[in-house]
Amino acid sequence: MKVLVAGGAGFIGANFVRYLIRSRPDIDVVVLDKLGYAGNPESLAGLDRVQLVVGRIEDRDVVFPLVEQCDIVVNFAAESHNDRSLNDPAPFIYGNIVGCYVLLEAARTYGIRFHHVSTDEVYGSLTIGENRRFQPDDAYRPSSPYSASKAACDHLVRAWVRSFGVAATISVCSNNYGPYQHVEKFIPRTVTNLIDGIRPRVYGSGAQVRDWIHVQDHVQALCEIVERGRIGQTYLIGVDGELSNLQVARMILEEFGHDPDDIDYVADRPGHDQRYAIDNSLLVSELGWTPLYTDFRAGLRETIAWYRDHEDWWRPQKEATEAAYYRHGH
Ligand code: NAD
Ligand code: TYD
Repeated sequence: MKVLVAGGAGFIGANFVRYLIRSRPDIDVVVLDKLGYAGNPESLAGLDRVQLVVGRIEDRDVVFPLVEQCDIVVNFAAESHNDRSLNDPAPFIYGNIVGCYVLLEAARTYGIRFHHVSTDEVYGSLTIGENRRFQPDDAYRPSSPYSASKAACDHLVRAWVRSFGVAATISVCSNNYGPYQHVEKFIPRTVTNLIDGIRPRVYGSGAQVRDWIHVQDHVQALCEIVERGRIGQTYLIGVDGELSNLQVARMILEEFGHDPDDIDYVADRPGHDQRYAIDNSLLVSELGWTPLYTDFRAGLRETIAWYRDHEDWWRPQKEATEAAYYRHGH
């Protein structure tokens, strides 16, 4: 069996490919990735049975022949950072949305199973303190150009299932952490800043809540959905990991043996979503999925150790990433 993993050189895609190669000896993988700033071939180093094709999902001439020779497509490919989407929405619209459309058209043409990796951010913001979590059929209320582009993709997938009978599923996941995440994202940024002696930057008051999941739990859930999920269904993936940004920053500081109040508060993100929270009961009851990383602090400690041990992986990105943050006042 051959799996086409679009965006497989990024954070979650690379963890997915690594997991597939480790756990499914009968599977070969083709990674299609444009190798943008967040795509790193080093994240796939040392893997057998993986072919890397450098190209864009919005390029039909690249996508169609690849889809034709595969049994299933899993789409991670997307510009993925809210802050970047606020500074320049264009690649989010032309890459994420048009790219998803081209992949769907290829899956339709060749009758190939399709899985689309989405985000809880499509549902917009919950209120802090309210006793409610996202449900699969909640209305979509995206806040940023990034989440709006992801919402658009989900609508396309649902339409291609209903109108054209494409055999597709969608998964909606909360914030991931773990190895191979780009240093622009909150946890790796904070960890690598502390390695460099820079204080954590927290947006606004830091009260915003995210539902943190270890990437390993995400990719295992994806395998269950791809193999046994119901066509047309949206599955929510999360581990009841709600924490405020301030709590996370304080934990990281504690792990470094620093004063947990050693934080710089910087300008808030415009349109900043206050809270995300996932109800994973469908995934658990229907597919029997159970997460491994239920202790966030233990997963965080392991992640910090990974960044300490893999400076060669993240160092080349660090200076330019921080310079861009400083240019935008963060
Ligand atoms: P990432 O930015 O680390 O990786 C994205 C990868 O896709 C990169 O390798 C990039 O080069 C590639 N890519 C981007 N646009 C492309 C295009 N047009 N054609 C080909 N390749 C392209 O992102 P990530 O954190 O690994 O996220 C992967 C997917 O999971 C995204 O779709 C994202 O929306 C979704 N997601 C992420 C999170 C999270 O916490 N990181 C949570 C839920 C869902
Ligand atoms: P981020 O990792 O950018 O993911 P997302 O925007 O998809 O949630 O940010 C996670 C949270 O952390 C978000 O509420 C913004 C906040 N944040 C900070 O407080 N400081 C930072 O330096 C960064 C990068 C993010």
